Amino acid sequence: MKARKAAIIGVGHVGAHAAFALTTQGIVDEIVLIDKDPKKTRSEVQDLNDALLMLPYSVKITEGTYEDLKDTDLIVYSVGDIELLRADHDRIHELSFNTKQLKETAAKIKNSGFDGILINISNPCDVITALLDETLGLPKGHVFGTGTALDTSRLLSVLSKKTGIDERSITAYMLGEHGNEQFAPRSILSFKGAPLSSIESTAGPFDWTAIEKDAIAGGWITFSGKYCTEYGIAATGARLARAVLRNEHLIMPVSAPLTGQYGQSGLFAGVPAVIGSGGIEQVIELPLTETERERFDACAQTIRNNLQTARELLSK
Ligand SMILES: NC(=O)c1ccc[n+]([C@@H]2O[C@H](COP(=O)([O-])OP(=O)(O)OC[C@H]3O[C@@H](n4cnc5c(N)ncnc54)[C@H](O)[C@@H]3O)[C@@H](O)[C@H]2O)c1
Repeated sequence: MKARKAAIIGVGHVGAHAAFALTTQGIVDEIVLIDKDPKKTRSEVQDLNDALLMLPYSVKITEGTYEDLKDTDLIVYSVGDIELLRADHDRIHELSFNTKQLKETAAKIKNSGFDGILINISNPCDVITALLDETLGLPKGHVFGTGTALDTSRLLSVLSKKTGIDERSITAYMLGEHGNEQFAPRSILSFKGAPLSSIESTAGPFDWTAIEKDAIAGGWITFSGKYCTEYGIAATGARLARAVLRNEHLIMPVSAPLTGQYGQSGLFAGVPAVIGSGGIEQVIELPLTETERERFDACAQTIRNNLQTARELLSK
């Protein structure tokens, strides 16, 4: 039986937790950790190996180089410098740093002969995902980002607290930019197909604007106390990795390439997609209202502007 092999590039808060999530859930048989800081990588490899005896799965976890990517099935890309977000909580502050790193890392990934699936987490997620996709030249759908997956999880958590209904029984999405323009379309909300009116709310009036605001604020509540977010995003990356490696055809919101859907093309944005062994197998177009479509357009414009800035940096 072929071993399932993953690589994590960028073993900071997110990368290390992603490795732990992949290990504890037995999603892969082998993990290679790659970071520009070898001392840190060695420490994470040691710590993860120290946990193995207590865990239900046998996973081979090693320090690696880009040459190890040749036979790797899946890369979780989580390069960054989270300190850059401390100033004013805007993911855009990592654009310059992460674009510069990508110039070097993407060339090395490409030269390794990697031909698997790459899930990008690095911010600004929609921009870095598009640049990785362009640079690597892999088949369409093989590169995608976590996009608004974690933001959607925060939204579902707020809705669950408000209604008392389990998160998994609620259909709702955060869409667009994994950034300050993201929005939650009210028209999509359902409880396994049932409207809100059929649910007996457990707490107070239902204010959609406040719910959307609370969901967006969730990330910054986490960040403001520990200056990173790690469990939620690592669990998200691992869930997507599982969907790919087990060919689940799972519907999740991710940063996906748009080719006319939502009236947009030539960019990656947060939309629901079917995830399987081919990465993104289908982008799902939700029936948004006119006002929601305008908010999607605003996200697309922001992503496009940032992509332009990043491309200029990349060409220098
Ligand atoms: N998409 C999301 O929902 C989401 C959620 C949380 C974090 N993030 C993003 O994920 C990224 C990582 O976050 P973090 O908290 O782990 O940051 P971090 O600063 O703790 O870790 C980043 C790691 O990347 C490594 N690195 C930097 N340049 C590199 C290079 N050229 N090659 C290899 N490794 C390199 C650093 O040495 C460090 O270990 C950031 O961009 C962050 O904003 C995204």
